[in-house]
Amino acid sequence: MPDPVRKALSLGAALLLAACRVPAVSAGNPPGGQDFTEIERGRYLTSAADCVACHTNPDGGKSFAGGRPIETPFGIVVSANITPDAQTGIGDWTAKQFDDAVRQGKRRDGKRLYPAMPYVYYTKMSAADVQAIRAYLNTIPAVHHDVETNQLPFPFSIRWGMRLWNSLYFEPGPFVADPSRSPAWNRGAYLVEGPGHCGSCHTPKGTFGGDKNKRALQGYSLQGWFAPDITNDERRGLGEWSPADVSEFLRSGHNRFAGAAGPMADEVVHSSSNMTEADLNAIAQYLKSMPGHSSPEDRPLSADNPRMKAGGAIYQDLCAACHHQDGAGVSHLIPNLKVAASVAATEPTSVLRVIIRGTRTAATQSEPTAPAMPGYGWQLTDQQIADVSTYVRNSWGNAASSVSAGDVRAAREDLQARSN
Ligand code: HEC
Ligand code: HEC
Ligand code: HEC
Repeated sequence: MPDPVRKALSLGAALLLAACRVPAVSAGNPPGGQDFTEIERGRYLTSAADCVACHTNPDGGKSFAGGRPIETPFGIVVSANITPDAQTGIGDWTAKQFDDAVRQGKRRDGKRLYPAMPYVYYTKMSAADVQAIRAYLNTIPAVHHDVETNQLPFPFSIRWGMRLWNSLYFEPGPFVADPSRSPAWNRGAYLVEGPGHCGSCHTPKGTFGGDKNKRALQGYSLQGWFAPDITNDERRGLGEWSPADVSEFLRSGHNRFAGAAGPMADEVVHSSSNMTEADLNAIAQYLKSMPGHSSPEDRPLSADNPRMKAGGAIYQDLCAACHHQDGAGVSHLIPNLKVAASVAATEPTSVLRVIIRGTRTAATQSEPTAPAMPGYGWQLTDQQIADVSTYVRNSWGNAASSVSAGDVRAAREDLQARSN
């Protein structure tokens, strides 16, 4: 498959540069007769499902008023206005129409939504939770903003194509609890698979962007980043993280091993940092229960390999001051390169990105400093970046494919085309 097509296959996942938070429920008087606890619950779920990220145009758009362009394999899809405006939003939709859109991927006219709207995950939500989200959305300011969502070129502009897509990839139906597991595990599974739609970024995709469910949460490249394996895999996933490390990362964007950057920084800031401690622990418990899968036969490149030697020298020179000789970094400030899942990931996307362009991690209320790394794209050649990437991917117990100068060139071109 050509690279641009593969890159664009981040259906439903391409999102999240929106810079606004979920607004608080307007204080005082919720519309007559409405249940205030339901509205509050809806507000919480709206944040957990991160509806605001996609439904707000990052270029100064009003919250939930739509107009945000989202990458799909077919081209750009634009998000809809979901404020309670009667003409251009969802003000006069019935509860059933709203539920059909969120859980069945159906528009009000019966046509199909594109899966850039993550109904593939939201279908797992309970009817009561979707109703609570609607109750909350009814309380936000109505914004009159006409959005033409359908801006795809022919033939993808024809929505009936989505029927075929749905028959291949969409399994409608709410989450079914596993009675052999604890309530906390089931709550975690519900949040990850349903409202949290973590798989939209972390699950590998097949042709036309359908999830490879057999490899759920085992990592996927999108928007010039790699959303790493977040199963309990020892080598590529969260094997070395304790459940407390996972919940701390989701709450604050940092822990002793890693910092959240790129799309995950947005996810933490807008969504997971607002979750309750109980919900974060539930997610941690669920992720830690997902079995690992990488083969113990994976072997690192030998330290005598000339690429490793060249990369090691660059590492000493430019990187060791922060990340330390042994890659361990500094707890909560500089990520640990032997434990951070993106380093030894199947694809070097994130590693190349941070070396070429530098990065800044999330700033959250509980961790307000956002440590940063400078970019080296201007200073190092393609071959040097390839060597130092190969070195970090094969040192301190990491074992991953080596990176070529061609990979670096391709990453540079991809990044040049992206403003962020
Ligand atoms: C990953 C991005 C993304 C997220 C997250 C997201 N949406 Fe959407 N949504 C879209 C896009 C894109 C469309 C337009 C799709 C189309 O036209 O086929 C859409 C369409 C809709 C529609 C149909 C509107 C219409 O006029 O047809 C509703 C309702 C909706 N979203 C509600 C929600 C709610 C509620 C949430 C949170 C629970 C949410 N969305 C989260 C991207 C997203
Ligand atoms: C919009 C895409 C997106 C969504 C949605 C998303 N993630 Fe991520 N996630 C990423 C990316 C990209 C990274 C890598 C960031 C980096 O390299 O710093 C990441 C990193 C992580 C990490 C750190 C792994 C490590 O070893 O460094 C964890 C844990 C994680 N995500 C959990 C989750 C959970 C749980 C959810 C759902 C509640 C979720 N993510 C939803 C894109 C996403
Ligand atoms: C000034 C201190 C500093 C220097 C020097 C530095 N880094 Fe970083 N590095 C950071 C910080 C802070 C982050 C956190 C950003 C993040 O988690 O994505 C980071 C992140 C990374 C990551 C991503 C880890 C993850 O969790 O996804 C890699 C890989 C990396 N650095 C490699 C290098 C290499 C290779 C060099 C030398 C060419 C280098 N760094 C130089 C501070 C530094």
